[in-house]
Amino acid sequence: MHMAQIIVVTSGKGGVGKTTSSAAIATGLALKGHKTVVVDFDIGLRNLDLIMGCERRVVYDFVNVINGEANLNQTLIKDKRTSNLYILPASQTRDKDALTKEGVGRVLDELRKEFEYIICDSPAGIETGAMMALYFADIAIVTTNPEVSSVRDSDRILGMLQSKSKRAEDGLEPVKEFLLLTRYSPTRVATGEMLSVADVEEILAIPLLGVIPESQAVLKASNSGIPVIVDQESDAGQAYSDSVARLLGEDVAMRFVTEEKKGFLKRIFGS
Ligand SMILES: Nc1ncnc2c1ncn2[C@@H]1O[C@H](COP(=O)(O)OP(=O)(O)OP(=O)(O)O)[C@@H](O)[C@H]1O
Ligand SMILES: [Mg+2]
Repeated sequence: MHMAQIIVVTSGKGGVGKTTSSAAIATGLALKGHKTVVVDFDIGLRNLDLIMGCERRVVYDFVNVINGEANLNQTLIKDKRTSNLYILPASQTRDKDALTKEGVGRVLDELRKEFEYIICDSPAGIETGAMMALYFADIAIVTTNPEVSSVRDSDRILGMLQSKSKRAEDGLEPVKEFLLLTRYSPTRVATGEMLSVADVEEILAIPLLGVIPESQAVLKASNSGIPVIVDQESDAGQAYSDSVARLLGEDVAMRFVTEEKKGFLKRIFGS
């Protein structure tokens, strides 16, 4: 029997790249042959299905399943590009209390029977929705931008994982925490506008899963509804692939962490 893993992509601070990362990592795991579902916990916003490019296919959603108005079979959307990949879309209801611990637990238990990896895309903040997304997690990917406010809110989320998760409540082995540093710009680190990888690692003191560079490819991907990891020409796509490999236990060197030195021709002709 396989042991399903529940992975929450969380942050504290909003707009740091959780949904971008959830879509990329879920797709990356599926591309590696693992049956994966990505669940949108961001009730009312529904960003994930746009980034996955399946927004027109949404009929039922997470809250419908919790309320017994539809079953998972009717609700899960099969990704059109990647096999082994499914999306459980969020509801557009305004009722933020639609996600109950009992209901979420029931749905996740059912997903555990079918999937190897369950990726939970958390809403921002430390309110109910974010707590619901991290409560059942086995693994947490703490998405952080290299700036003080983001690091501070990530630290707050680490506290929540250690005290408010089900694993903490049950006295089990703690949630495995990983740092994913996103929107990283070595140039802006060099000028002192941003914290370095080492700075963030020192403050949060959790293992580094990856560093995703600030990249034009991310906006391009989200506009076309194709997770950026599919674009293996792009730096961000490659950085997400490396991160997925590390998540699976592979030993992969960090890339895109140092400033690209301009060569002679680039200096003369520009890039
Ligand atoms: N590596 C990157 N390079 C450039 N832009 C990025 C990168 N990662 C994310 N972004 C951009 O940052 C914005 C926020 O990303 P995203 O929606 O993934 O964040 P989020 O943490 O899910 O936000 P929210 O807290 O609102 O759910 C988007 O416009 C996205 O395109
Ligand atoms: Mg989001």
